[in-house]
Amino acid sequence: MTNRPHFLMCPPDFFGVSYVINPWMEGQTGHTDAAAARAQWTALRDALARAADVSLIAPHPGLPDLVFTANAGLVIGARALLSRFRCPQRRGEEPLFRSWFEKAGFEVVAPPHETCFEGAGDALLDESRDVIWLGHGFRSDAAVAPLVAQAFGRETIPLRLIDSRFYHLDTCFCPLPGGVLLYFPGAFDQDSRAAIEARAAPDQRIAVDESDAAKFCCNAVALGDSLLLNDASPVLREKLRAKGLTPVALPFGEFIKAGGAAKCLTLRI
Ligand code: ARG
Repeated sequence: MTNRPHFLMCPPDFFGVSYVINPWMEGQTGHTDAAAARAQWTALRDALARAADVSLIAPHPGLPDLVFTANAGLVIGARALLSRFRCPQRRGEEPLFRSWFEKAGFEVVAPPHETCFEGAGDALLDESRDVIWLGHGFRSDAAVAPLVAQAFGRETIPLRLIDSRFYHLDTCFCPLPGGVLLYFPGAFDQDSRAAIEARAAPDQRIAVDESDAAKFCCNAVALGDSLLLNDASPVLREKLRAKGLTPVALPFGEFIKAGGAAKCLTLRI
């Protein structure tokens, strides 16, 4: 038995910006550099592979956002709850992720047709609290919460997103090992901020400012004591170190043109 973490990634062969479905993509159509994107993706895969297993799904022409495997679905244990994308541009990814999960032996469940759900972009397992936080408002529907709760037998806490730059929960919220929540308060409505504060004592929260948030600091992947992220200010780095975590900055500029960074490029399975 090994308890090495296991991630799903997708090589960036067909990555690029060819449509606009979030504010980061505006003005970026055709402006990504394929070689730079590959180098950034490879550095992340290599960093993960030092302490985790990494499986790959085959890239597919015409699906430039398939690299963002966080949006494949939510996987906990042997079960995968598939995504149903809000934007038609990404719906072609659904059968590819379904068949990958089926071939890999997961028990696959799908949301009902009328319900949007964008997987681990919006549904984040908080292992310390044994709850699932569910972002809604831009991509996933709040109505999927009971299904998520039932599929994984865990309380599911909806959080309403209100800033279109932070359209997926994983762009503004990250449950860290040890129970600390890293988040950008400005991305949430008042009730949702209150819900976060009710579940995490002040010393269990790191509220980041807008400039760190805009650098995708919350879009982080924890690996042991390391936290892989695009960038963080010296103040934030110090706060993370005080919680026993080592921030490891890797560049994700090419993927940020599409609205994603470290966490979006991975799916914990
Ligand atoms: N261009 C993609 C989209 O807008 C980026 C997805 C980023 N993924 C994430 N988990 N935040 O859907």
